[in-house]
Amino acid sequence: MALKNLEHVEVCQIVNYWEINQKVEKNVNPVYKASIKVQTKDQQPTQPYTEMAYIKFIDPWKIYAECVSAIVGRALGLPIPQPMIGLLKTGVTPPPGLPENSGIETPVFVSIDMKHPSVRNLITNHSTAIQDNKLGKQYAAKLRKWSKLLEAGSFDEFIANNDRQFGNLLYEKDNSFFLIDHELAIPKNLVQDEKNQANHLYTLYTDNEIGKKLAIKKTPAICKPYQSFTAAEVKSKTLCTEYISDIKHIDQSLIALYNRAQQLTSILLEYTAQAKDGQLSLSYHETTT
Ligand SMILES: Nc1ncnc2c1ncn2[C@@H]1O[C@H](COP(=O)(O)OP(=O)(O)OP(=O)(O)O)[C@@H](O)[C@H]1O
Ligand SMILES: [Mg+2]
Repeated sequence: MALKNLEHVEVCQIVNYWEINQKVEKNVNPVYKASIKVQTKDQQPTQPYTEMAYIKFIDPWKIYAECVSAIVGRALGLPIPQPMIGLLKTGVTPPPGLPENSGIETPVFVSIDMKHPSVRNLITNHSTAIQDNKLGKQYAAKLRKWSKLLEAGSFDEFIANNDRQFGNLLYEKDNSFFLIDHELAIPKNLVQDEKNQANHLYTLYTDNEIGKKLAIKKTPAICKPYQSFTAAEVKSKTLCTEYISDIKHIDQSLIALYNRAQQLTSILLEYTAQAKDGQLSLSYHETTT
């Protein structure tokens, strides 16, 4: 896999949307599902098609972070739902209570519905905290068996994602997962060579001696494709200049990502130098920002 020929983020129309019942889903923020209409440029003939998706009314920088993370991760072969930028169809209005400057013209982030529950949904549906806790440990054990755990942890380090809690992992089946929710990744003030504050997946892999040895062996090859990261391509494929006016910050963040890509192996190997064994940092609580 390489970071060349990244996919183009599609633009779609939000035909209608509805809020998901919070009591059932146990999410922190309101979660919306939508019916979307997509008119792809690549398809011949250009027939619009309808899909189901999750949508988020978030600020443009977070849409940018979601889109960069998704197209980069997908190009590297990681299981991440297809991202899109949604525009509300005429007559469809945003939910009340959004920041003043958001209106019907404001783009929303769209993530194609993978039809799998989040791990948080699976482990918090039980009557007692003890049961939830036990299940949390079981899903952490499944994560350890996930064939893409080290790749996913390396990716989180690259995009500086400190929010990989159980709500942001979908469980597919047989110890395999999808990565979602990268709105807190790629902060505006991204530092190119600083280790993440909380890389839960890479930490999970390297919290024992065998994991550490394997990580030392495998990390350089995992990080190699990141070296072909090109800022110009990411900038054009995410359409970010169409919805973010703050071009200076976009350019700064892409330069930081490029430099981060060149140093990724050495940043990650710092985790293998840590002495602490048997730590489990994953939780199903939201990261506070
Ligand atoms: N593409 C998707 N396919 C399936 N389920 C999804 C998808 N995107 C989001 N979800 C569901 O919606 C929930 C919330 O999505 P997400 O984490 O992106 O939003 P959020 O605003 O950060 O919510 P929270 O604060 O609850 O984490 C997820 O935990 C998951 O259950
Ligand atoms: Mg989330």
